[in-house]
Amino acid sequence: MSEKVRILLSEEEVNAKIDQVANQISKDYEGKEIHLLCVLKGGVFFMCELAKRITVPVSMDFMALSSYGNGTESSGNIKVKKELDESIEGKEVLIVEDIVDSGRTLSYLVEELGKRNPTSIRLCTLLDKPERRVVDIHADYTCFEIPDEFVVGYGLDYAQRYRNLPYIGVVEIEE
Ligand code: PRP
Repeated sequence: MSEKVRILLSEEEVNAKIDQVANQISKDYEGKEIHLLCVLKGGVFFMCELAKRITVPVSMDFMALSSYGNGTESSGNIKVKKELDESIEGKEVLIVEDIVDSGRTLSYLVEELGKRNPTSIRLCTLLDKPERRVVDIHADYTCFEIPDEFVVGYGLDYAQRYRNLPYIGVVEIEE
């Protein structure tokens, strides 16, 4: 058996879309400062690319979560593995994710972070798989809606590999 990665969204397409979304975010937050929150590990690549293109001041923090499920799907049972370093009180928080799948992670985060008195919380995701949603949540900024396929690259992994691909691909197993 061997694996092949088929390109779903090229590096050029992804970068052009991040330009657009970063432009929109810069307009929407004009005169304000954005506190970007990255959900490790998948969100790192997207957050860096986004942050480089945003023209209003930004600060950044990182959080790691774990969900105990069957391995392929997140369960509702989410725990914080790495806490934020700084308080979010009074900040304009923008959560940055690589993908919204069932929606459980974002839904948990919005509820949890909402208790900490930020001025606002919005969500920005590189990819959205609306077909897989089990919780009613949608991002304020979405780069791409994609079909229910196993995607890698731009932070997304398959058994921890492929995160560093500069494009979004689909893993295909060949017999
Ligand atoms: C992925 C992704 C989101 C979450 C989305 O993280 O980065 O955080 O799953 O799934 P959901 O909408 O069904 O909750 P993962 O647990 O794979 O960790 P990783 O980012 O470290 O790869």
